[in-house]
Amino acid sequence: MSHQLVSIGIIGIGHVGPHAANSLILQGIADELLLCDVNESKLAAEVQDLNDSVVFAPHRVVVRNCHADYEQLAGCDVIINAAGNVKLAAVSRDGELFATVDSARTFVGRLAAAGFEGFWVNVANPCDVVSAEVHRLSGLPTNHIIGTGTCLDSARLREVISLTTKLAPESIQAYMIGEHGNTQIAAWSAISFAGVPMKNVISKPGFSDLKPDDVQAKARDGGYVAYRGKECTEYAIANAAVRITRAILHDEHAVMPGSVWLDGQYGQRGLYISVPCIIGANGVEDIVELDLNDEERAGFAASCDAVRANTARLAP
Ligand code: 2OP
Repeated sequence: MSHQLVSIGIIGIGHVGPHAANSLILQGIADELLLCDVNESKLAAEVQDLNDSVVFAPHRVVVRNCHADYEQLAGCDVIINAAGNVKLAAVSRDGELFATVDSARTFVGRLAAAGFEGFWVNVANPCDVVSAEVHRLSGLPTNHIIGTGTCLDSARLREVISLTTKLAPESIQAYMIGEHGNTQIAAWSAISFAGVPMKNVISKPGFSDLKPDDVQAKARDGGYVAYRGKECTEYAIANAAVRITRAILHDEHAVMPGSVWLDGQYGQRGLYISVPCIIGANGVEDIVELDLNDEERAGFAASCDAVRANTARLAP
């Protein structure tokens, strides 16, 4: 019986890339990791360290140093784009825009020309704009490109609610939607606990301490709490990318937020932005339309406009 070997590429071996690689190794998701970065000494060091990590993994994984020979990744099932310059994000994730788009423009087209037909999981910020650029350059249908987007912010939202209610995060269905940035919003009216909507429990002990604006702000700004202390984030964002990758490779048909192409859903079209979607072997298989109230719908529309304005800053 031949096991279909899973090959995953990671471009950008700064902070997030190595942690994504280590998560893929320790979760037993990948059989082969092909790593690219322009910083050869850092890349060589991470490849050494990751190969040493394989010893503790559930099964053998081959970690290859592909330098900047991006074409070697053309046969990968999934490529994670973590090529960024987090130092530029000190004020806003938008600060990375020109650097990350320029990076994507050096390798996405090369992989398209080399015949890459797998899935892109984009981490690079500003995530929604870069995800759209990866799609434009990839020659692939929109379901083949997904950004981590508010997959991470929704985890932060569930963590904030969990810390107040003492409920396990996996028992909390809650989504941040919109830009992976300052204009994202909590879909408060859609938050539920085992199907029981927030409005039915908000007056109960433990839940009454949840203040919507405070909870939303903590979820939205959580990344910068970490960033202010160590000038990056790395573990949670890496695990968000790995969670999406796992859903694709295991054909999970799992609902989770991600930066996806909208073509009329939520009354919006022509951009990548985060909403809950169904992820499986065909990538983004469907989009979940939450029943937003008027205030949430307006907030989401404003976030879409912010992403469009950011995209307009790019020269074609
Ligand atoms: C974050 O929010 C890196 O943008 C990512 O942590």
